[in-house]
Amino acid sequence: MQTFINSISGEVARAFEAAGFDADYGKVTVSNRPDLCEFQCNGAMAAKKKYGKNPREIADAVAEKLADSEVIASVEVAGPGFLNLKVKETYLKQYLAAMAFGERLAMDRAEKPKTIIIDYGGPNVAKPLHVGHLRSAIIGESLKRIGRFVGHKVIGDVHLGDWGLQMGLIITELHERQPDLVYFDEGYEGEYPAEAPFTISELEEIYPTANRKSKEDEDYRNAALQATKELQAGRRGYHAIWQHIINISVTDLKKNYKKLDVEFDLWKSESDAQPYIPAMIEKMKADGVAVLDQGALIVDVKKESDAKEVPPCILLKSDGASLYATTDLATIVERMKLFAPDKILYVVDKRQEMHFLQVFRTAAKAGLVTPETELQFLGFGTMNGKDGKPFKTRSGGVMRLEELINDINGEMLKKIVENKGYQDSDAEETARIVGLSAIKYGDLSNQATKDYVFDIDRFTSFEGNTGPYILYTIVRIKSILERFRKEGGDVDACALAEAVSESEKNLAILTAGFSAAVASAWAETAPHKLCGYIYELSNALNHFYHETKILSEEDSRQKQSWIALLDLVRKVLETTISLLGFSAPERM
Ligand code: ARG
Repeated sequence: MQTFINSISGEVARAFEAAGFDADYGKVTVSNRPDLCEFQCNGAMAAKKKYGKNPREIADAVAEKLADSEVIASVEVAGPGFLNLKVKETYLKQYLAAMAFGERLAMDRAEKPKTIIIDYGGPNVAKPLHVGHLRSAIIGESLKRIGRFVGHKVIGDVHLGDWGLQMGLIITELHERQPDLVYFDEGYEGEYPAEAPFTISELEEIYPTANRKSKEDEDYRNAALQATKELQAGRRGYHAIWQHIINISVTDLKKNYKKLDVEFDLWKSESDAQPYIPAMIEKMKADGVAVLDQGALIVDVKKESDAKEVPPCILLKSDGASLYATTDLATIVERMKLFAPDKILYVVDKRQEMHFLQVFRTAAKAGLVTPETELQFLGFGTMNGKDGKPFKTRSGGVMRLEELINDINGEMLKKIVENKGYQDSDAEETARIVGLSAIKYGDLSNQATKDYVFDIDRFTSFEGNTGPYILYTIVRIKSILERFRKEGGDVDACALAEAVSESEKNLAILTAGFSAAVASAWAETAPHKLCGYIYELSNALNHFYHETKILSEEDSRQKQSWIALLDLVRKVLETTISLLGFSAPERM
């Protein structure tokens, strides 16, 4: 079923046509004067030029054609020629009923489903996850779910960072500490132990130590560079250490992502792309796309129209080493080969914008993708603390994801217990569910590209534009439905009726806006649009609830119709939060 607003536009477009004007002028928008009307159309003003007529005259003619519409209840011509519209209750009710009984709330599936890879998460093995990785995981996961709901084939790839200097650093530090390990014996030809010579917590200590040392000690740094090079050249013992690091890190990462309810289809990594590099480079050289410049192999990607300088993309340094861009290009080659995606969407810190611009231009210039393949970069801003600096946890260190989640859950538990006056046996589980909504909604409700302040107090509040407020609204509905059932009512048998109050109609219209909200969040890769939508919907629900005595209503058909509406709002809210990546508890 088409979106509600499109169906109304369609009706107004027909009226424009019937009155002798172009149907395109019939586009309607949600009214910005809800006190006057529900929808408005400004097409008459736009049509003035083409038809050389007074817009009011045009609007009057259109209004006349809408007089006995099945969709539009009333139309008023206002000001210079606005069409102020109200929708027929019967039409609205039909639309809602179709949502209630249709699959996926009656949202149309994409006409041409695409294969889309979303590159998100992007953690680096052996390095702790930082806030940037948290944002990437939250935003990417939501986009993956929205894309699938819309009907596309979406593949989420974590694109593990496992090929950089951090590997050489760990190998070097390990060598200093345990030089007798068999991995360092170049003459060794047997099998390496299955058990790693370190645990995840040791690994997390080894990397920062090695990193610090390499900054203070040039010999140490050179050793790490050398180890990285030898690893990349295939030295057996180093490769075995690398494999241990990956296994241990991936187990730990999966545990962390699970806590965030983030799940990847592919656990591919930078190293997986390495085999594609040599042939890719050879072809770029042969085609004259890549050229030597002071010993380095580069691709010139600047364009005349560039407002700021776009430096060349460096494929190989003068010592022959490949770089971040080389890996990303080879990953594109691999993805095209394995999945032939229509689109690859990268959800990465916006400070990497130039890198991706260079990579995308190089990919296009070298023909690594087809002219139709869409490469999109969604750069997100920084998550700051209240002091305006990148967020740190209570202990003041770089964020450890687990610590952040524990902080939030602790705060949530406190609030839940305060609210109730006592602690339920399931309070901790509830705090975990609500805590996740606080983190994710706190992030997603901001436009991704902007920096935002991570404010635990605000994010965990039950009031205002927060995850817990949305969940509170859902739980409120669930508890009304529960009481209705306890009285012997059958929620599924309840039929919607026409709205009897303004707050009810407003709620109904917003409910009908679900598919348009999802469509625009997808089209604009903007989960915050969904947050905006459910915040408004929740406000409307609570407003309606405060004005209406639902369960004590004596007219049983009236009562049932409200129950049916509440149940539909519940479905819309629950579906939307699942697209954002969290869920609601039964009680809170
Ligand atoms: N590992 C990278 C980092 O921590 C992010 C990877 C983003 N994805 C990509 N294809 N480059 O900065």
